[in-house]
Amino acid sequence: MSSEQRRLTELDHQYIWHPFTQQKHWTESEQPLIVESAEGFDLIDVEGKRYLDGVSSLWCNVHGHSEPELMAALHDQADKLCHSTLLGLTHRPVIELSEKLFKILPEGLSKVFYADAGTTAVEAGLRIALEWWQKQSGEAAKKKRKLLSLDGAYHGDTVGSVTIGFLPAFHGSIEPILVPALRTPPPHMFRFYDGMSEEDALAAALEQLEQTLLREADSIAAFFMEPLVQGAAGIWVQPPEFLRAARELCRKHNVLFLADEVATGFGKTGSLFAVEQGPVSPDIMIIGKGLSAGYLPISAAICSQELYDGFLGGVEEGKTFFYGQTFAGNPLAARVASANLDLLEQRNVLGGLPERIAAMTKALDENVQPLGCVDEVRQCGLMVGIELTKKPGERCPYPAQELAGWRVIYEARKRGVVIRPLGNVIILMPAITMPAQQIERLVQVTADSLRDVLGG
Ligand SMILES: Cc1ncc(COP(=O)(O)O)c(C=O)c1O
Repeated sequence: MSSEQRRLTELDHQYIWHPFTQQKHWTESEQPLIVESAEGFDLIDVEGKRYLDGVSSLWCNVHGHSEPELMAALHDQADKLCHSTLLGLTHRPVIELSEKLFKILPEGLSKVFYADAGTTAVEAGLRIALEWWQKQSGEAAKKKRKLLSLDGAYHGDTVGSVTIGFLPAFHGSIEPILVPALRTPPPHMFRFYDGMSEEDALAAALEQLEQTLLREADSIAAFFMEPLVQGAAGIWVQPPEFLRAARELCRKHNVLFLADEVATGFGKTGSLFAVEQGPVSPDIMIIGKGLSAGYLPISAAICSQELYDGFLGGVEEGKTFFYGQTFAGNPLAARVASANLDLLEQRNVLGGLPERIAAMTKALDENVQPLGCVDEVRQCGLMVGIELTKKPGERCPYPAQELAGWRVIYEARKRGVVIRPLGNVIILMPAITMPAQQIERLVQVTADSLRDVLGG
């Protein structure tokens, strides 16, 4: 370690509490990767060493880092206006972004409510859903106060988001103070834990969802789901039929349908939005991460005209939506988001996706799938989860204290690749524009690291 790396490491350990990080482990045994800059698909550390960014900087980078056109938009905007509020004022970048967004969003959505992070947009979405029913006339609507979501869902970390996105490993310790929500299993759970066929798992998941709706729809305001892929659960993939049928069931039982596309949006599943593969039109859709190409914090809850109209009235009627953040729809982020949408179109990024997805599938089939330490490889578009097993040929997750995933990603780091584990799953999620050759390198290094650390 150089003296500069040591100085920065000591200061980090002295002052910083990292998200989702066991600080004891971090300060006692980690030699942190201190990122100084980034270029294309590489992160560059303070010593100038390059690392392939295999998780698109927490699932959000779209066109690579320091992309000249995005940087030009950012610099130009910084010279004009860095921040102004959307509370009672508006600004050009957010207006122009909104016009572009509605050209690419699924049909049926017509108003965008901006926020500053995935979780605060989710919170906006669930508040809109809950409050909308409360603002309807009639006693029956007012009884619709519960939220329904999928087992293993993740929707962010505010207490509201955790209510619908409870993951025992992350949120177990605050369970007693959470607002109770109803949960229903996704088809993946049956397949993975009960070894069902894809068809049977789909039928079982839909049956359970319908039973819950039959029993409880009168009290349920909204059903919330991550369409096609439950990312933080460990890339649990659902067939598009689940999405389509779930949406229909919600319509039939008069329950609002919310699609959280924070992780799946902006091409990660192979289409611009995962809901297109239903195709379904949600009542509310949440976007974040890739909206600004992963450069700056901005997110949105986008809803139908009917929901929006439910909040209209004189100030005395109590229909105003009292919710928002200081930096919601920030001009710098909105301007870069606008440039992101331009680039996606001009470069026909989605047109090139099938080739990159196929390169990922082939590399995984050849290098990762055959390894003895691999239980299951799950892929949807460029979202990949590699489930580990301690006993080849059997379902036997590594105990958490063995840090199997962490040992693998540290080995990959030595080989110049950044990836991240989620419990017993290694996640790969390159930027959707990463060329096939770099995708192949990402998979090859992952396979080599798995073999060296956990055995072939
Ligand atoms: C599906 C989903 N929703 C919400 C969030 C929260 O987003 P943020 O971390 O920007 O608050 C995430 C983050 O990974 C996510 O995957």
